[in-house]
Amino acid sequence: LKQNIPFAVYQGIVDFLRQKVPPHLIPKVGIVCGSGLGGLASTMDDGTFTIDYSDIPNFPQATVSGHAGKLVFGILSGKPTVCLVGRFHFYEGYQLDATTLPLRVMHLLGVETVLVTNATGSLNERFNVGDLVLIKDHVSLPSLAGLNPLVGPNLPEFGPRFPAVSDVYDFDLRVLMAETFYKDPSYQSHGISLHEGVYTFVSGPSYESRAEGRFLRSIGADVVGMSTIPEIITAAHCGLRLLCMSLVTNQVLIRPEPSALDEAKRRLQVGGSAVTAASLAEQEIKATHEEVLAMSATRSLAVEKLVTAFVAAL
Ligand code: 6GU
Repeated sequence: LKQNIPFAVYQGIVDFLRQKVPPHLIPKVGIVCGSGLGGLASTMDDGTFTIDYSDIPNFPQATVSGHAGKLVFGILSGKPTVCLVGRFHFYEGYQLDATTLPLRVMHLLGVETVLVTNATGSLNERFNVGDLVLIKDHVSLPSLAGLNPLVGPNLPEFGPRFPAVSDVYDFDLRVLMAETFYKDPSYQSHGISLHEGVYTFVSGPSYESRAEGRFLRSIGADVVGMSTIPEIITAAHCGLRLLCMSLVTNQVLIRPEPSALDEAKRRLQVGGSAVTAASLAEQEIKATHEEVLAMSATRSLAVEKLVTAFVAAL
């Protein structure tokens, strides 16, 4: 039988944090900061309390060197908030229940509302790079096929054996975020559009092939990413109120692969051509981590302002 993290471990982490964190900073709001969006933590008032994952007994340790791994407790727009700066991904080699441990810790600390952010690739031709997407539903291919963070003995302290995950992206929170966005015209004047869409979770770390991109589009996904959904499932299981917002950092290539057969016929007819379909395809931009981080950096100030205004409206 699969051995999951026992309840006592979560409780131990929470007891430890309750001893360390100043009482007025025990959070009601949680924010999971996606790739390049860790600056959200710096928008909190002065007097934050920061603790590195490495200083928390039994907390999973961040693997990527130079990548922050810390919990930042503070007051954001008047509300005690905790920011998770540096999340855990399945592709790093963690068990799924380790990647989602911080959500259960937030719940036991008394957090009621969680905003999960991430960077995603767009599968929808209307969703441009730099746009924001309020996630309304998900397709978790790994979870449909055995990789679900709740696999293993259920911990009834958190929730039921068979939790529903329909409608876990709280409707009122989505409306509130959309109102916050439309109320301030500066986002749209900076060329940012807000969409609603379906997120599909893939394990990574490789990006999608063209055929995989077409497949994901055909099953109704608007954006694709390598995080978030295990956290969402675990958070929904313990009853957290959830909002998920994605930043589109790149467009997924879904155009058909160039045809070698067509190209061979053309070369035989015209005796070799300078501009081949294959060389055109080469010029299409492949997904890179650098472009993901660059777009996150471009949008970080706008996202921080939007999230600050949203938390104020909660
Ligand atoms: Cl294009 N694919 C995946 N799987 N994750 C991403 C991404 C693409 N862009 C950002 N995150």
